[in-house]
Amino acid sequence: MLKVKIAGTGAFLPERCLTNDDLTQLVETSDEWIRTRTGIRKRHLLSEGQSPAEMGVAAARAALAAAGIDHPQVDLLIAATNVSEQPIPGTAPHIASGLELPGEPAFFDIKAGCAGFVYGLALASGCLATGMFQSALVVGVEAPSRFLDWQDRRTCVLFGDGAGAALVVPSDGEAGVLGVSLHGDATNLRLLRIEAGGVGLPASEATVRERLHFLKMDGKGLFRAAVPMMERATREALAQAGLTPKDIDWLIPHQANLRIIRPLAARLGVPEERVVVNIDRVANTSTASIPIALDELVRTGKLKEGQIVALTAFGAGVAYGAVILRW
Ligand code: UT7
Repeated sequence: MLKVKIAGTGAFLPERCLTNDDLTQLVETSDEWIRTRTGIRKRHLLSEGQSPAEMGVAAARAALAAAGIDHPQVDLLIAATNVSEQPIPGTAPHIASGLELPGEPAFFDIKAGCAGFVYGLALASGCLATGMFQSALVVGVEAPSRFLDWQDRRTCVLFGDGAGAALVVPSDGEAGVLGVSLHGDATNLRLLRIEAGGVGLPASEATVRERLHFLKMDGKGLFRAAVPMMERATREALAQAGLTPKDIDWLIPHQANLRIIRPLAARLGVPEERVVVNIDRVANTSTASIPIALDELVRTGKLKEGQIVALTAFGAGVAYGAVILRW
């Protein structure tokens, strides 16, 4: 099997910004509740008429530029997203169209809840390791603002829009993907869901009237599941890499709640200053949360060559997983 690494990262956040105080105009909430229960202070949202795939295109372009590739030779494009640009075709072809990649690369969407980017990175690595593809763009892109119920304070305060991307290529050095763990607990499908608009319950006047096209969440159920799931996946991926939690230089957990991130770090014994947190500024961007945080770490110059990075996420399904990288 060939070794593969991330050669470049990129991210995109829409310009429009909504603070916790802004949200008090929409629902009965407070800055204090949102901050203390989640760690969120603000989030970025698409403007009317802006397309979610445009965020993916911008993040992917930044990743290609960071990799120093002038004429992108990408032969696989994976878009991780929960709700794609339109039912058919998926988000990946929309991003491919915006990027105008030469050579008609393969593309497809991955729907694995907020763990979609981790799944996508793991699958891209596997495909490259076998030699099936030579380079892959993995894009996490999500526009929750388009499927949130802005009358439901239990969900609308938690999420933000955004995209992040990574270019994956073969590695001839020490840098690379060292371990992967992917899992799914399908015993409680209802924890995070949009009930209507699919083929199980197609759109109708009744589904619209009953607000069934909006995201619904059992927050407490997910909250309980999150830490053990991400801990298990991280430990398994580390073991595969022949490492232990002590070896982690940077932990990048899915940014769902600061009250999930902190206990996870504590259980793994990773000190606070080694945990990447941006939920305060961008909220939960779902499939985009890990690549946006990774890109921040890279662009601020904190991530040094040779360091060990643990990426771990959980989300709808409940799908969860982890990837261990040497940078
Ligand atoms: O990316 C994966 C998907 N997301 C997650 O996995 C999120 C996981 N869950 C969580 O992060 C937390 O469960 C939440 C942040 C969603 C909720 O925090 P919590 O501490 O579990 O609060 P709660 O649901 O128990 O609600 C406590 C109270 C309730 O009032 P009562 O019933 O005690 O009177 C809620 O109605 O807070 C109320 N509440 C709010 N109050 C002000 C719920 N949302 C709000 C709000 N503002 N936005």
